[in-house]
Amino acid sequence: MPLYSGGYLLYLSFLTPVPSLVGQMKIESIRLQNFKTFRDIHLRDIPPFLVVVGANGTGKSTLFDVFGFLHDCLKNNVRSALDKRGRFKEVISRDSNGKSILIEIQYRMLITGSERLVTYILEIAERKGTPYVKREILRYKRGRHGKPFHFLDFKNGTGYAITNEEDFNKPDEELDRETQTLNSPDVLAVKGLGQFERFKAANAFRQLIESWHVSDFHISAARGRKDAAGSSEHLSETGDNLPLVARYLYEQHRPEFDKILQTMSRRVPGIQDVQPRLTEDGYLTLRFQDGSFKTPFLDRYVSDGTIKMFAYLVLLYDPKPHPLLCVEEPENQLYPRLMAELAEEFRAYSQRGGQVLVSTHSPDFLNAVRLEEVCWLVKEAGGTQIHLAKEDPQLAAYMAEGDQMGYLWKEGFFEGADPR
Ligand SMILES: Nc1ncnc2c1ncn2[C@@H]1O[C@H](COP(=O)(O)OP(=O)(O)OP(=O)(O)O)[C@@H](O)[C@H]1O
Ligand SMILES: [Mg+2]
Repeated sequence: MPLYSGGYLLYLSFLTPVPSLVGQMKIESIRLQNFKTFRDIHLRDIPPFLVVVGANGTGKSTLFDVFGFLHDCLKNNVRSALDKRGRFKEVISRDSNGKSILIEIQYRMLITGSERLVTYILEIAERKGTPYVKREILRYKRGRHGKPFHFLDFKNGTGYAITNEEDFNKPDEELDRETQTLNSPDVLAVKGLGQFERFKAANAFRQLIESWHVSDFHISAARGRKDAAGSSEHLSETGDNLPLVARYLYEQHRPEFDKILQTMSRRVPGIQDVQPRLTEDGYLTLRFQDGSFKTPFLDRYVSDGTIKMFAYLVLLYDPKPHPLLCVEEPENQLYPRLMAELAEEFRAYSQRGGQVLVSTHSPDFLNAVRLEEVCWLVKEAGGTQIHLAKEDPQLAAYMAEGDQMGYLWKEGFFEGADPR
């Protein structure tokens, strides 16, 4: 069994070149129908930093996997994304016979210089055991007061996309629609059309989802010597390029690297320095220097929490934040008193331009989180509902009096959150 950190990371990365507009995006809402435990939810008003709590099995991982699912749909096709999750029958909510899965994501992004509210809608159904895209729409408002306009609209593999969408001021009838039939009913139109420069909205959305990056952080993968060839600017899915990213920060972003070191030495007793070190045979290792000893410790021999804290700092002090970063249960392996600062660091990351979603079971973490940043999941009769803390008058009143979210949660003020 590999040592497992218990923390999943999911982020939109810049590993592939993406247009600058991708960096400007912010998810506003997520609507799901018949997606596993989410029979019908609409999570609105998503803040830049959102913390999700909920009992085991209420759907925190499922919520984050919506991005992974879309990513997989785009990388291959809908069928393989479903297969990876146990096929259509496992992904569609139990006992939803004859219904379809709906995913609707609304986000703000810069399009031709103006910020637009874009909606992407994907409906997936199954016919004779074969999944297909029943409907796919990409729409946004062209003017401040206009109705949403469909830039891409496909039903059962046939539809249209607008090819001169940069002409925002033209009346609708002057926009050119290009009718297309997709090769396969389980391929997304944003994938097919997104490959062509002239379908700008589809192209941008495809690049956006393609750069969503689902990742499981494994302490065991982060440890040990790594081939020093190549360079890495961002922590990878598993964290297995940690020494390379550390070297990159050390060489190219020394102020950030020094900040990470200072923070490490405050949080992990005995850690004075961390050095990326190249071996003679072309491997890179991390050496952790304890102030009390002359000989540093190789990353292989330092504690789990030391590696994890260092990896989180490397992730969170990234000079170019990912547009979307999701982390599951960051508290695992870390000392509870460190949670407040860690929460601050996630928030700071979101303020630098990357939206952050975190799930947690830690009251210490939640104590450092604001009212408007918290939601909780409640499972009833086999389906999950989402509650926003800011919409609960009692919680709002307590927080206004200076209470803390973690204590309120522990005292049972998150209605329905505790298992009964
Ligand atoms: N097709 C489906 N229909 C209805 N419910 C489903 C379906 N597939 C999975 N589930 C339920 O959804 C639950 C959500 O699990 P998930 O892993 O998202 O929970 P979690 O909140 O991350 O829990 P934990 O805190 O234990 O990590 C599962 O326990 C399962 O019961
Ligand atoms: Mg989970």
